[in-house]
Parts: sequence; C-alpha cells; structure tokens
Amino acid sequence: MAEVVLDKVWKIYGKRVEAVKELSLHVKDGEFVSILGPSGCGKTSTLRMIAGLEEITRGHLSIGDKVVNDVEPGNRGISMVFENYALFPHMTAYENVAFPLSLRGVDKSEIDKKVREISRLLEMDYMLEELAASLGGGERQRVGIARALVHESRVLLMDEPISHLDAALRSKTRTELSRLQKVLGITTVYVTHDQLEALAMADRIAVLNFGELQQFGTADELYYAPENKFVADFVGEPPMNFIPCRLKRKDENTVRLFTECSDFDITLKGGDAKRLDPKCTDSKVWFGVRPKDIVITSSTEGDSSGGNQVKSLVLNFEPGCEHSIIEGSICDSRVLIQCDPDVQATPDDTLFLDVTGKRFHIFDFETEKSILEKKL
Ligand SMILES: Nc1ncnc2c1ncn2[C@@H]1O[C@H](COP(=O)(O)OP(=O)(O)OP(=O)(O)O)[C@@H](O)[C@H]1O
Ligand SMILES: [Mg+2]
Repeated sequence: MAEVVLDKVWKIYGKRVEAVKELSLHVKDGEFVSILGPSGCGKTSTLRMIAGLEEITRGHLSIGDKVVNDVEPGNRGISMVFENYALFPHMTAYENVAFPLSLRGVDKSEIDKKVREISRLLEMDYMLEELAASLGGGERQRVGIARALVHESRVLLMDEPISHLDAALRSKTRTELSRLQKVLGITTVYVTHDQLEALAMADRIAVLNFGELQQFGTADELYYAPENKFVADFVGEPPMNFIPCRLKRKDENTVRLFTECSDFDITLKGGDAKRLDPKCTDSKVWFGVRPKDIVITSSTEGDSSGGNQVKSLVLNFEPGCEHSIIEGSICDSRVLIQCDPDVQATPDDTLFLDVTGKRFHIFDFETEKSILEKKL
C-alpha cells in the first residue's frame, strides 16, 4: 500500500492550456479520495499524471515516499479502471481478469489462484466462464475492477467508472465499490463530476474548478463549511441560495446585513456576529443559505418570535412527497425553500422567512471566500 502526494503539480498542454494549476494533495495510505468538479476542470488530467500516462509539466508526484515523475506507468504500482473498462468482448470474464498476468508470463497455477481469489472477493465467481460481451453493465464493471486489482497494485485509479450505468445500478455499484475499497484497503483516487457519488463514497473529496483546488475535505466539511462560494454552490442539492448584500458592523456583537430593497435587512448578534472575520466592517458580501435551512415563520409581517424576518414573494410551488420546494424571490434574488409536504404556497403569495435561525454562510463579494469562522 502507499500514499500518493502531489506537490504543486501543474499540467500545461502546449503553451497555453493550464489544465491543472499548482495542485497539492496528500492522499493517505488506504484512503479513498474523490476528485470532483465540473467538465473540463482537470480531473482526468490529474488522474493521468498520477498514472504516468501524461507528463507532469511542473511539480512533484510521489507514490509511497518515492518521487515518480520519471517512472514508467508499468513501474508505478498503480492500476486504472476506465469508464468503458476496455474488456475483450470475445474473451470470458476469467480470461479478461487473467490477461495482465498472462502478459507478464505469470505461471498458470499462480494466475488461477489469483483470479479465483479476487473473484471471490468481488462475488463474481458465477460469471467467470461467460463471454464479456454477454455480461450486463454492472458485471462488466466488476470484471474491469477485478482485472485492475489482480495486479496487487498499491494504488487504484478510477475515472468516472460508473457514470454510464442507469440510476438504480449506479447507486448499487456505488455502495459495492465503497465496500470493496474498504475490504481491500487500497489507496484509491476516484474521479467524478457527480457530487452525490463523491459525497457518498469518498473519505475526502478534492473539489477542482478551472484546474485549481477549491477545497479538500470530508463530505461534512464541504457541505457544512464550504470555504468558498464555488464549493457552496457545487456541493448540495438543491444548491445553496445566494443574496448579494451589504455588511456593516455596528460593534463586536452586532452586524447588519441589508440590501437596498427593504425586504432583506437582518442583524446578526452575539456568537453569530463574533464568528465573522473582525476585519470585515463595511463591505459587499454574498449571504448564503441552503434551501433546507430556511424556515417559513409566517405569511404575515411581524408575526415571528422576534427573530430576523425576510420577505419573499412566491414565484412557483413544487409539491413533493418527502418535502416540497417553493421558488421565491427576495429583493430580485431567486431563492429555493425546502419545506414540509403539508405546507402549501401559491404564486404571488408573500412569505416571511427566518434565514439565520439554522445554518447560514457569508462570502466576500470579490474573492468569494468564506468570511465566517468554520462551524461543523
Ligand atoms: N491532450 C490535450 N491537449 C490539449 N488540451 C487538453 C488535452 N486534454 C485535456 N485538455 C484540456 O484540459 C482541460 C482539462 O481537461 P480534463 O480532461 O482533465 O478535464 P475533466 O475535468 O476530466 O473534464 P470531463 O469532466 O469533461 O471529463 C480542458 O480544458 C481540456 O480541454
Ligand atoms: Mg474527464
């Protein structure tokens, strides 16, 4: 087993395409790390540099204490599972799994032992004699993984390995992959653009945007304490609401947040005010709140229990079984409110909302970095 360390790694294609910018990541021995981000953010480039399939433009990559920038892919102790698994359709599952070992000239009885061992672990003994072409998507995936693992490599790299499966199979395979990774204890780097997949499977998640690391943390850290507006927006479904507003600190214990339109004017007091970066006294900010953290206090003004009230117009109402979603507008910012299914709302209704009673976030308007002390 091995840790994987990226130290200020850059990937520049040609002269200008900066696909990965000064990326530093420390994947611990046996850890499952997911690289998450939108299309084109540099996920595959990062994975291919770890695999040795793509040259590292600048920086260092080590696998288990050894810098491997110049080590051939075959000597890095890694295996890789691609989205299409690249199986040989006319060969059986057994032959596909055995292939890399046969190529290395491993003894037949040794191959047999290894193939059967890994097949037992992956619960795929029953399909060993089937042709790869006759297997279903989930089964082919297991063959692909078995073939990657049969090498006894130290690091497993996966690039969107289940993105083409249908929703039900994807969710089942997700659980199975996490279980396997824990059983095998193999250091794993898993690329996906699907935040639910990353949050459900990985020990830690590295969020990339335009080749830059935005945050590296556990699912809880990303969800409850996003370090910037991009992570806050990208992680969580439905996404966080953002309202641009002005921040003015009155004293240590009192901070006012307001917009020019009078519907949004709230005051943070005591602990909430103290969590705010003391350097911020008068600036433009983004106020962020997740749809599930908004509480409808009443449909008439002044009816709340003395807390902060914000006025919203109802634009749309989407009823649901587990919860309903109200689409509203606060001072021209569109907001989503997640509420209990027994709540009803009609377009053009006015609602009064408590947006600070649960969890909320504040980001600097320009840098988009969080200016609130972390709270998990
Ligand atoms: N061989 C290449 N030559 C030039 N530019 C490339 C090459 N490979 C990737 N790029 C560019 O580098 C950037 C990052 O690409 P990469 O494939 O790493 O992103 P990704 O996050 O894996 O995207 P996706 O989610 O679409 O797979 C993109 O702008 C892409 O166009
Ligand atoms: Mg990719």
